[in-house]
Amino acid sequence: MHLLACPRCCGGVAVSGPQVITCVACGTHYPQLAGIPWLYREPALVLGEWRNRLRLYLDDFATEERLIERDLSAAAPAPATSRRLRRLAAAYREQRVAIAQLLQPLDFSTRATDGAMMKAFAVTVPRRQDLHSYYTNLHRDWCWGDEENDLALTAVARWLPRQDGCRLLVLGAGGCRLAYDLHEAGLAAQTVALDINPLLLLAARQVMDGTAVGLYEFPIAPRRPEECAVLRNLAAPRPVRTGFSFVFGDAFDAPFAAGSFDAVLTPWLLDIVDREVDDLVRQVNRLLRPGGSWINHGSVTFIGRRPADRYGLDELLDRIPALGFSRPEHDELEMPYMRSPASRHGRVEQVVTFACQKLTSAPCVPSPPLPAWLLDPRVAVPAGAGFETAGLASRIQAFVLALIDGRRTAGELAATLVEQQLLDPESAMAAVRGLLHRLYDEQLRPPPS
Ligand SMILES: C[S@@+](CC[C@H](N)C(=O)[O-])C[C@H]1O[C@@H](n2cnc3c(N)ncnc32)[C@H](O)[C@@H]1O
Repeated sequence: MHLLACPRCCGGVAVSGPQVITCVACGTHYPQLAGIPWLYREPALVLGEWRNRLRLYLDDFATEERLIERDLSAAAPAPATSRRLRRLAAAYREQRVAIAQLLQPLDFSTRATDGAMMKAFAVTVPRRQDLHSYYTNLHRDWCWGDEENDLALTAVARWLPRQDGCRLLVLGAGGCRLAYDLHEAGLAAQTVALDINPLLLLAARQVMDGTAVGLYEFPIAPRRPEECAVLRNLAAPRPVRTGFSFVFGDAFDAPFAAGSFDAVLTPWLLDIVDREVDDLVRQVNRLLRPGGSWINHGSVTFIGRRPADRYGLDELLDRIPALGFSRPEHDELEMPYMRSPASRHGRVEQVVTFACQKLTSAPCVPSPPLPAWLLDPRVAVPAGAGFETAGLASRIQAFVLALIDGRRTAGELAATLVEQQLLDPESAMAAVRGLLHRLYDEQLRPPPS
């Protein structure tokens, strides 16, 4: 609690009620889910989004199960195919129950998950980080064996400061195995694991408390037929020792007081964020005490939105001193990555680990605030902001779909658009076919793996 700060104003926070934390400066209330602080700048908005993602996730599995039942009854598949489908259907059913149970702390309801409503709203939730993004990391962390985890531990441990009472923050901790291993190795007295994804942290917390979690793995390329769905028992070698805590939050608005940590680790995070890498580096700088260490571990395949942000290794190492750090020292190691024992698929990565020290403070750029009309249900939503175009697009789509009566052809649908002077004949035909094709494809959307 003493390390935490309000993600909005950086004020101190205090427990103000059962499962509630309040900022002593701006008065914002933040929930705790299963005892883990939920410290997003807009806690209610973000909670609603994750609940929607969860509903969508569960719905995807239910849809896939229905498609399997349809295939089984309609197509009379070969015995091996039939076995695989039955196995998958059973796995999807059990996985839905297991995930819903694990994410109970989100206090979500599955009411109103009418298919049309889901399609109209849930899919428009920003999908930057989805519930099942990095889900497989849980299996790698807690049941595939030691190889990848040990390599990561060795690669990172040598760069951590050897300091009594070291306070370590792991940003984007995911399934938390690396954070756990570093903590268990005695390299930190206090370790805080922060991640944006509640599924990963809730599963990791349960595993690290000493309660195994049963979840299915759906390998990309199963080695054997029965490995299309593998029930995994995620378990830690032993319950984590004291001094380890979890926080739900966004690394770009990390909810900790400035200078709270002796070391900050960003494992496989820098390369996947879709905001400016520099902003994250500035945030790391803010979180470290003067002289504290930043250790980065992972790939150098940046996916930033701006081309200029997709740094190569040398560019990145050159850039970091301008953000208040010493020039990083680094090493590289070819490592297996996400190689499931049940899958023919796996990666080999040239993994880079670097470390540097905070020399000066770099001014941190706060996330741009969301508009009032998004945050406050009483504030009018402004016309403009692209809504007219989106509205018109939905109306045109609704107009075309309403014409579908079981008799009209795609050509006739296109002709109506031409009659209404909405499109010329060639574009109308392409547009109608494109729309029908997309909707047809969506019916076959595969479930999250
Ligand atoms: C590639 S995974 C790496 C996970 C873990 N560090 C590992 O090495 O297995 C990236 C992780 O960053 C998390 N993440 C992505 N964006 C984030 C953000 N803005 N703040 C905090 N965590 C984030 C994801 O949920 C995911 O767990």
